[in-house]
Amino acid sequence: MSWIDEKAHTELSRVREAKEKQVYPYFRVFESGGLHTTIGGQPIINFSSNDYLGLTNHPRVKAAAKKAVDKYGCGLSSSRVQATTTEHVELEDRLAKWYGYDSCLIFTTGYQAMLGTLVSLADKDTTLVLDSYSHACILDGTFLAAGTPGRAPEIRFFNHNSAKSLERILKSRERKNALVCVEGVYSLDGDKAHLAEFVEICERYDAVLMVDDAHGTGTLGERGTGILEETNLRSKCPVVVSTFSKTFGGIGGLLFGSQEVIDLVKHNARSFLFSASLPVPIVAAASTILDMLEEDGPAMVKELHQKAAYFRGKLIEAGFDLGASNTHIMPVMCRDERKTLFMHVALLECGVLMVPITYPAVKHGEERLRVNVTRGHTQQDLDEALELVKSYGEAFFVLSGEDLGPLED
Ligand SMILES: Cc1ncc(COP(=O)(O)O)c(C=O)c1O
Repeated sequence: MSWIDEKAHTELSRVREAKEKQVYPYFRVFESGGLHTTIGGQPIINFSSNDYLGLTNHPRVKAAAKKAVDKYGCGLSSSRVQATTTEHVELEDRLAKWYGYDSCLIFTTGYQAMLGTLVSLADKDTTLVLDSYSHACILDGTFLAAGTPGRAPEIRFFNHNSAKSLERILKSRERKNALVCVEGVYSLDGDKAHLAEFVEICERYDAVLMVDDAHGTGTLGERGTGILEETNLRSKCPVVVSTFSKTFGGIGGLLFGSQEVIDLVKHNARSFLFSASLPVPIVAAASTILDMLEEDGPAMVKELHQKAAYFRGKLIEAGFDLGASNTHIMPVMCRDERKTLFMHVALLECGVLMVPITYPAVKHGEERLRVNVTRGHTQQDLDEALELVKSYGEAFFVLSGEDLGPLED
């Protein structure tokens, strides 16, 4: 055995243990797409999908992607530098208008968009200021910038969503320029950034505010353009990153900003320059979803909000703790690893998928099921899931908060 095999064996002990106990929850194999799928032949209602408006499998979207396959195939075999199509450029122009920015750049994933943007903008004159709950792409982009020869920005964290903590950091920063990065909606907690407070502090301390609105795109604001529409603060946030991997039904990263900022990133971001361009069938799918949002966005967003409010109301009425959530993303707090995993397994056996989030993704005592309500869920899906969550919430003492006690053999 080589050292890499030994290393793999040692480091996988927790995964092995979970598999032995038959509570390993990840990489479940879906046998079809959509919010209603099957796993091992069993019908499943999926509450772990980020297809927030339920458009991924819409016949119009699929038809557009199929048409693009005929014209371009499934890939362009090169990066955007020499593989940009009319479809990419038209969609960038339309998205910039829809979001309300000068310009837009389409990356191949949201993860790459964030990495490329942070490394292009943050240099040795910059302090990067991050919320302590930042998504992996923000952390990885920051670590990459920190390790890039000649750039090495200062890195500081502020307490999650705390304006006071942000102010302390900005006051004591060591570099001239500050770039503050927050998320519109936090993906594990379902709470919105306190944007109005952050805008005010950033203005006072001459800092630039950048928003990753991956989960706010298509879900917030009357037209669905995100948290900046909802808060009417678009003019105060010069840089926004988003993704096609949630509401836009596919994959792809988005950067919005002024023409010059976009041009700077376009010519510097290695995650853009040295990775294959987004396949045109995916561009066509996203473009069709944009058509649908332009035609009917407000009604679709409203329907999502109605379904989320119904589900939230029923969970709260039953006595569940939803943490700080105030959106369609609702963590059902179990505050115990075993309770979380048992709930997940029991629900799945009854045909409902809610993904468990445990340490180290969250702190000990903050284990939860992450539940996403989408517009694509039917009333029957919601009611079925609610009944089951309530039953198992009682059975596993999530509702009472009692200890689960030792396991019987
Ligand atoms: C807040 C946030 N930003 C960025 C991303 C990355 O997006 P993508 O899936 O397009 O790489 C995600 C996806 O999970 C996310 O939750």
